[in-house]
Amino acid sequence: MEKPNPLATISMASMLPFVIVLLLSHTSCASPTDSVYGAFVDCLRNNIHSPNISNIVFAQTNASYTSILRAYIRNARLNTTSAPKPLIIVTPLQEYHVQTAVICAKGIDIQLKIRSGGHDFEGLSYISDEPFIMLDMFNLRNITVDVQKGVAVVQAGATLGEVYYRIWEESDVHGFPAGVCPTVGVGGHFSGGGYGNMMRKYGLSIDHIIDAQIVDVKGRILNKETMGEDLFWAIRGGGGASFGVILSYTIKLVPVPEVVTVFRVEKTLDQNATDLVVQWQQVAPHTDERLFMRLQLRPVNSNVGGRHKTIRAEVVTLFLGGADDLVSLLDKEFSILGLNKENCIEMSWIESALWWASFRNGTHPNALLNRKLNSAKFLKRKSDYVKTPISRDGLEWIWRRMIELGETSIVFNPYGGRMNEISTNATAFPHRAGNLFKIEYSVNWDEPGYAADKNFTTQIRRLHSYMTPFVSKNPRRAFLNYRDLDIGINHHDNNSYHEGEVYGIKYFHNNFYTLVKIKTEVDPENYFRNEQSIPLKL
Ligand SMILES: Cc1cc2nc3c(=O)[nH]c(=O)nc-3n(C[C@H](O)[C@H](O)[C@H](O)COP(=O)(O)OP(=O)(O)OC[C@H]3O[C@@H](n4cnc5c(N)ncnc54)[C@H](O)[C@@H]3O)c2cc1C
Ligand SMILES: *[C@@H]1O[C@H](CO)[C@@H](O)[C@H](O)[C@H]1NC(C)=O
Ligand SMILES: *[C@@H]1O[C@H](CO)[C@@H](O)[C@H](O)[C@H]1NC(C)=O
Ligand SMILES: *[C@@H]1O[C@H](CO)[C@@H](O)[C@H](O)[C@H]1NC(C)=O
Ligand SMILES: *[C@@H]1O[C@H](CO)[C@@H](O)[C@H](O)[C@H]1NC(C)=O
Ligand SMILES: *[C@@H]1O[C@H](CO)[C@@H](O)[C@H](O)[C@H]1NC(C)=O
Ligand SMILES: *[C@@H]1O[C@H](CO)[C@@H](O)[C@H](O)[C@H]1NC(C)=O
Ligand SMILES: *[C@@H]1O[C@H](CO)[C@@H](O)[C@H](O)[C@H]1NC(C)=O
Ligand SMILES: *[C@@H]1O[C@H](CO)[C@@H](O)[C@H](O)[C@H]1NC(C)=O
Ligand SMILES: *[C@@H]1O[C@H](CO)[C@@H](O)[C@H](O)[C@H]1NC(C)=O
Repeated sequence: MEKPNPLATISMASMLPFVIVLLLSHTSCASPTDSVYGAFVDCLRNNIHSPNISNIVFAQTNASYTSILRAYIRNARLNTTSAPKPLIIVTPLQEYHVQTAVICAKGIDIQLKIRSGGHDFEGLSYISDEPFIMLDMFNLRNITVDVQKGVAVVQAGATLGEVYYRIWEESDVHGFPAGVCPTVGVGGHFSGGGYGNMMRKYGLSIDHIIDAQIVDVKGRILNKETMGEDLFWAIRGGGGASFGVILSYTIKLVPVPEVVTVFRVEKTLDQNATDLVVQWQQVAPHTDERLFMRLQLRPVNSNVGGRHKTIRAEVVTLFLGGADDLVSLLDKEFSILGLNKENCIEMSWIESALWWASFRNGTHPNALLNRKLNSAKFLKRKSDYVKTPISRDGLEWIWRRMIELGETSIVFNPYGGRMNEISTNATAFPHRAGNLFKIEYSVNWDEPGYAADKNFTTQIRRLHSYMTPFVSKNPRRAFLNYRDLDIGINHHDNNSYHEGEVYGIKYFHNNFYTLVKIKTEVDPENYFRNEQSIPLKL
């Protein structure tokens, strides 16, 4: 059996042989890949007291390398032979394996990328232009729920579906506010903010995080007390990957009613969808905070008046209460919707998680445990924030542009409620009061290859550009969890601060400057970095 290793045993002396191996490799015929592998594995072997580490370290030549790499690729666009691959994949089974991997990778000066659920839209967790090792956290996924205390400890490699399921196993009246896609990983989702359909009632996932464990650049495991308030603040919305490897978050569960209500109502332009969207903007960000009405807008073929394109507006809702209350509320506030009781479905909170994830009625909650390995669509996402309602003329202009472009849809996620009550610097996530809704731009396609990629990424970029007059400005804002490399990237050979500021103020607004300060304190050599990480102070 492996026993936890005191990291003190990793000394400069124990690193020396690998440095020599690396130097020798320049004059020998060993490829650089082999020498990196040799140095890294020797270091691990010396520090992980196991007769066999081949179940946690994978070289590109090893049989299971490709299946492990692909398992958590969540964007087919990034699943190509030309995408840069990790030299080595490490799949820790114990927390101290993470500590060892950080120390050994840093010791041979190789970049480390960290992957939990792999849902990063740009694949920053498993692709890099620099040679790199990938730390894949999927084995570290314990979830310990303590209903008496109303808390749970969730390891970074768990998925949201697993979190919801484990809570449901213990209680019908507890839940947790996080994303709607069950396969999303805790490590990226929580550290980047994490929002879902209870956001107006409870805010974001990070608003309910009470502790965390992180492995820092020195290989130490720190918790809230030992990492200090600053770092604890940063890893609630600032992303994890700039600061270390998050092992777990401790979360406070929230109460959910025994009966919640969902509905989905759709209208096309011929059915006055524009009126619906005008009224939605007046209602959705201001109504009862138990009510989350997502608005999905997509170009579709019309089935009235011959073949032409129209826009379909779809309102997808969770209400933390019963159908009668919901119908009478929306009858008053959102008459254009024409909601009646037949549109509404009452169910338990866990059933609503299944419903939102498009599972059929009657699906057992254990479907939330399905990780759906190695399956992905081709996709691109972008984001925006809206602070003033878009006029009817503006909407009609947008519909024409969307119909011209053809495939890109937009989703309005209403803010307000609890989001307005939390100050912009309470956590690193800055988009609070003053935002009516967030836009998610979304395009999916099925054909591999450059032509389709170019086609669809061009159209989503155009729509984002067309939207400029209607959205936040100076800076135009973006949501970190909707990772988008178009808004700026960091070339590490350059002055990374100025490059970092470009995307940094979009994702974090003024919190960017605090994040830079914290980053400079906790990782002064910028070891934990990626294309959009927090840069060091000038
Ligand atoms: C289908 C789909 C649905 C989504 N739905 C929602 C939604 O409803 N709400 C929402 O808010 N977001 C949503 N997202 C976005 C999602 O929250 C982000 O992509 C999130 O970062 C994914 O986390 P992950 O662990 O799966 O991703 P990963 O790709 O593993 O990681 C994302 C980033 O976090 C870093 N990271 C991951 N794990 C760690 C760790 N343990 N320590 C330090 N850094 C780490 C990675 O290096 C990378 O930079 C969705 C994404 C997809 C693809
Ligand atoms: C080491 O682990 C691998 C993968 O789990 C296994 O195939 C192999 O038999 C093990 N070797 C030894 C010596 O235990
Ligand atoms: C994995 O690849 C390395 C490097 O090529 C090799 O030394 C090792 O024996 C391989 N391990 C297994 C289990 O195939
Ligand atoms: C990646 O591509 C391979 C080979 O084309 C395919 O078998 C696999 O399903 C793809 N995986 C993802 C996640 O797209
Ligand atoms: C996960 O939980 C099990 C059972 O409590 C425990 O044996 C195991 O060590 C835990 N794993 C990790 C990585 O913490
Ligand atoms: C659309 O609005 C017009 C004008 O208010 C109204 O006459 C018509 O009945 C509405 N159509 C639908 C399908 O609701
Ligand atoms: C699900 O189906 C059952 C019968 O199969 C039905 O009684 C119930 O009303 C349905 N629930 C929902 C939420 O549609
Ligand atoms: C947030 O900003 C206010 C006002 O500038 C300041 O007093 C407070 O200390 C800040 N809080 C944090 C957590 O940085
Ligand atoms: C480009 O996108 C349009 C839809 O917007 C589609 O009809 C067309 O087939 C696409 N072309 C390619 C090469 O993918
Ligand atoms: C440095 O930045 C410039 C422009 O910002 C870019 O053109 C160049 O490629 C970058 N250099 C490196 C080494 O990435």
